[in-house]
Amino acid sequence: MKVLLLGSGGREHALAWKIAQSQQLEALYCLPGNPGIAQIAHNLPGNPSDFATVREALLAHQIDLLVVGPEEPLVKGIRDKVEADPELAGVGIVGPGELGARLEGSKEFAKAFMQRHNIPTAAYQSFGAEDLEKAQAFLKTLQPPYVLKADGLAAGKGVLILEDYDQACAELQEMFGGKFGAAGSRVVIEEFLSGIEASVFVLTDGKNYLVLPEAKDYKRIGEGDTGLNTGGMGSVSPVPFADAEFMRRVEERIIRPTVEGLVADEIPYKGFIFIGLMNCGGDPYVIEYNVRMGDPETESVMMRIQSDFLGHLAAAAAGTLDRERMEIDPRTALSVILVSGGYPEAYQKGFEIQGADQAVSDAVVFHAGTVLKDEKLLTQGGRVLSCSVQAANIEQAREKAYALAAGISFEGMYYRRDIGNDLL
Ligand code: AMP
Ligand code: GLY
Repeated sequence: MKVLLLGSGGREHALAWKIAQSQQLEALYCLPGNPGIAQIAHNLPGNPSDFATVREALLAHQIDLLVVGPEEPLVKGIRDKVEADPELAGVGIVGPGELGARLEGSKEFAKAFMQRHNIPTAAYQSFGAEDLEKAQAFLKTLQPPYVLKADGLAAGKGVLILEDYDQACAELQEMFGGKFGAAGSRVVIEEFLSGIEASVFVLTDGKNYLVLPEAKDYKRIGEGDTGLNTGGMGSVSPVPFADAEFMRRVEERIIRPTVEGLVADEIPYKGFIFIGLMNCGGDPYVIEYNVRMGDPETESVMMRIQSDFLGHLAAAAAGTLDRERMEIDPRTALSVILVSGGYPEAYQKGFEIQGADQAVSDAVVFHAGTVLKDEKLLTQGGRVLSCSVQAANIEQAREKAYALAAGISFEGMYYRRDIGNDLL
């Protein structure tokens, strides 16, 4: 099978690493990829959200399977464009069409979907700018903290949680006033859920599904979950509180109704569904859907998959997932993200990285924001590398990941030293 993977982050390096282990793989291309991916695949230049570029790559390399890493190409309808193109008739795709991608692209669409299919989620209402007074009146009926969500994609910044009613009203006005651009022209206001979060991943062909290993990610920059939100500072899988009974509830109350809801609503869907969950006293509630894998969860999740992942992806694209079984390594996978000093605020790039090529068993250094220049590996993003390891338990995985991190250096390098601590 010839495969084209879109994207360039740690998530895509982890996907590429797992796909590259398949006996069914003939050639792996990644657009645009990164220096870590270049060690196991052929990187192709260009913007993965530009259909003309992707089309050219699909034709030039006679691609059988297109795997879409990030959400943007999906929200922009890459599947629909490939399917409408007679020259691309043989290409299988992992990733939903534009309609399915609205589960991530529009919070209002996702909430209405959940409500329609009785999927547990926070109570909500949604409003447009013309409804400011109604929105304020609805806020009054809720207990603080108040949760405001811009309807559209806002680079992960569109969710605000506010303690005070007046502050919430002021923010609401700013959102309607264009604080998040068009993404905030409609706003979902919802009940605050208190509990512990987990990420659950499903691969579906629109009818059948496989549940991937679940994970926990660490979003805040500071230890003890303090400070600004980031793209993710670490991840762990499995998640001890997501035990067999909890996962049974997730499957019965959320995964199955979600897949059945897609069928009932006639939303064809072949790809990943990433369900952000809140565990509220043992009962799962959906915080959000994403239509792609999570980052940095994927860096841990891929380490635990033992069966032929490319086979699963191809089956999802072909509609034959009922024939697949996923084998999962029971050991713990843990990832620590090494970031640039200053991230998630302004940071400098271009510092030389030492030690990223350590060879340690049951460990991989995945690249996220790196670049090769004059044969030197340099920092190129906020999140730079992921130290991902496997071990018998969380304690040993922590030890191993932090030993790996200690062997890597670049100017200003920072990482959280408490990944997994809360799960011990
Ligand atoms: P999202 O962009 O939807 O992932 O939201 C960002 C973060 O806001 C989530 O990961 C949660 O930590 C938090 N959050 C979102 N909705 C709620 C809610 N209804 N109650 C509590 N926390 C929430
Ligand atoms: N780790 C959360 C996300 O990928 O959105």
